[in-house]
Amino acid sequence: MNNVQPGILAPPPLQARYLVFTQKPGTNALGALQILSNLVDGEKTVVGLGQSLLLSLEESIEGLRTFPSYVGASIEIPSTPVALWCWLRGDEQGELLHRGRFLQKTLSSAFHLEKVIDAFRYGPGHDLTGYEDGTENPEGADAIEAAIVRGQGEGLDGSSFVAVQQWLHNFDQFESMSAEEQDNSIGRRKSDNEELEDAPSSAHVKRTAQESFEPEAFILRRSTPWSEGNRAGLVFVAFGKSFDAFEVLLKRMVGLEDGIPDALFQFTRPINGSYFWCPPLKEGYLDLSALGI
Ligand code: HEM
Repeated sequence: MNNVQPGILAPPPLQARYLVFTQKPGTNALGALQILSNLVDGEKTVVGLGQSLLLSLEESIEGLRTFPSYVGASIEIPSTPVALWCWLRGDEQGELLHRGRFLQKTLSSAFHLEKVIDAFRYGPGHDLTGYEDGTENPEGADAIEAAIVRGQGEGLDGSSFVAVQQWLHNFDQFESMSAEEQDNSIGRRKSDNEELEDAPSSAHVKRTAQESFEPEAFILRRSTPWSEGNRAGLVFVAFGKSFDAFEVLLKRMVGLEDGIPDALFQFTRPINGSYFWCPPLKEGYLDLSALGI
């Protein structure tokens, strides 16, 4: 599909920088969005718009909503809505810094840069716990089926909904677990990525087995590790044709389905969570026609 922001379907980059913006009170974002739509190619920079931004424009996109806040036993899933998300993708941190500063300045009439997260590929695509991440991701036509809106008409087709959460790992806790406990928490063997048939039902891949849901809950994960000083973890990024699959997965992880929380929560927790609508492209630039822009 040539009207999808190509960064969504491409593998995660070597280096990434996430810029999260709030909208300045009382501003009209129309002008800034017009400039943004001509600046962004969807490949080097993927863009998502939050619900508060659309409300300020008196527009809506069916399916875009606020990130849910769930609570389970000793588990809190925060919801931290923001206006605009830019995922800068590249090979070089310096280039990302300059691209991000340029975007910040260009958007400053309406947007305040709330947060910057530096992220990177670890090995061939591992989480910082050492486990391979993304093995069961849908590919090719299946990735498009899971992640891309189709059959809704021009301006919507080619768009995607993205859930973004920054997870903070507790490495001391993780390292205090035996190799077997670690493997059982994920449900895969770290040494060779083999799925463990006899993993406990709290194992992450048992909780999130996409085919075990009715309907099946496939999402396209494009997560990358992040760090700031010695604080580090995973920026979990999941694209979907709606948020439904992500929400049933997360609810089961929290234990809302059967009271069994995901073993991941023993050593990591999300510190924020937001939803965005990622517009399609037209002639290589963002197509905001669904918002009347
Ligand atoms: C720090 C947070 C997380 C870490 C470290 C993590 C790590 C992993 C790892 C290592 C795998 C196994 C390999 C693979 O198939 O990718 C996996 C699978 C998966 N994860 Fe996560 N994950 C995290 C959060 C989440 C969240 C929040 C969701 C969705 C709400 C999720 C959904 C999935 C799904 C759907 C699979 C594939 C399951 C299957 O069908 O086999 N993960 N994750």
